Parts: sequence; C-alpha cells; structure tokens
Amino acid sequence: MSAPALLFVCLGNICRSPLAEAAFRAEAAAAGLEALADSAGTAGYHIGEPPDPRAIRTAARFGIDISGYRGRQAAAADFTRFTHIFALDHANLAGLQRIAPPGHAAHLGLLLDCVAGMEGRAVADPYYGDEAGFLETWAEVSLAAKTLVSQLKA
Ligand code: 4NP
Repeated sequence: MSAPALLFVCLGNICRSPLAEAAFRAEAAAAGLEALADSAGTAGYHIGEPPDPRAIRTAARFGIDISGYRGRQAAAADFTRFTHIFALDHANLAGLQRIAPPGHAAHLGLLLDCVAGMEGRAVADPYYGDEAGFLETWAEVSLAAKTLVSQLKA
C-alpha cells in the first residue's frame, strides 16, 4: 500500500491547519509512520504567506519550526492527491464539500471526528483571540494527530 497522504484544511492556512500539519508530522516521525502531510485554506486570503506569528511561536514552544510553511488554497485536485482530507471546522468542511469532485475517493471529514468524545466538534479558532487560544488549538490538533498516527499504524 502506498503511504497515506493527509491534508489539513482551515480558512486561511495560517493558524489552525499549519499547526495540525506540524503536529501530525511530529507524531508520524516519532512513530516511524511514513505519510505525506500538507495543509491548505478554503480561502485565498493568505496565499504564499508564512503562518501567523502566534502560530509560529506556539509550534516553536514544542520544538517545531513552521516558519517555512506557506499558505495555499485547497483545490479540487487535492481530492486526488490526498487519501485523507480533514477540515478543522464545519464551515471549512462545507467549503471542501463544495469543491469536491463527484465520486472522489478521499476520506473527507472533521478532524476531531477521529478523537473519541470529540466527534462533531470544531478545533478552536484562535485567530481573533490571544496567544493562549493557540495553545488550546495546539492541544486539540496534537490529540488528533496522535490518534490519526495510531489509527494509520494499526
Ligand atoms: P486559520 O485562521 O483559518 O486558522 O488560518 C484565520 C486566518 C485568517 C482569517 C481568519 C481565520 N482571516 O479572516 O483572514
């Protein structure tokens, strides 16, 4: 079987989804899981931009450098490039459903649906809050990343 390819999607691709990508990459590397990971936004507001400085600082607290990540917009072609596409919230899940090609084979769902007890929940959006919100986001995406890695290894 070829390696799984996971795409994490929020609105701007500068706060939540880069943190989800970073958390997943770290967990996959620690577990020796071979997987591709990327992130994107449903909106095109921040194409080509680095993550929000607060997201960069948050990842750095956990020893991960995401300053080289660059924003991009999710596209229909992602449904053939990725085996799993995870929306960080319901609005972005709806946005992905709008661009999904009919009959695509990718798994598409809410990221926290993979975590027992957190099904149906959105990852906290820290954009309009303070830096503490980014730690809450980190905690949620880390939990999801750990769960995904153990599921993919099983
Ligand atoms: P993200 O956060 O979707 O987690 O990257 C946001 C980024 C930008 C905006 C909103 C949320 N914005 O309105 O520009």
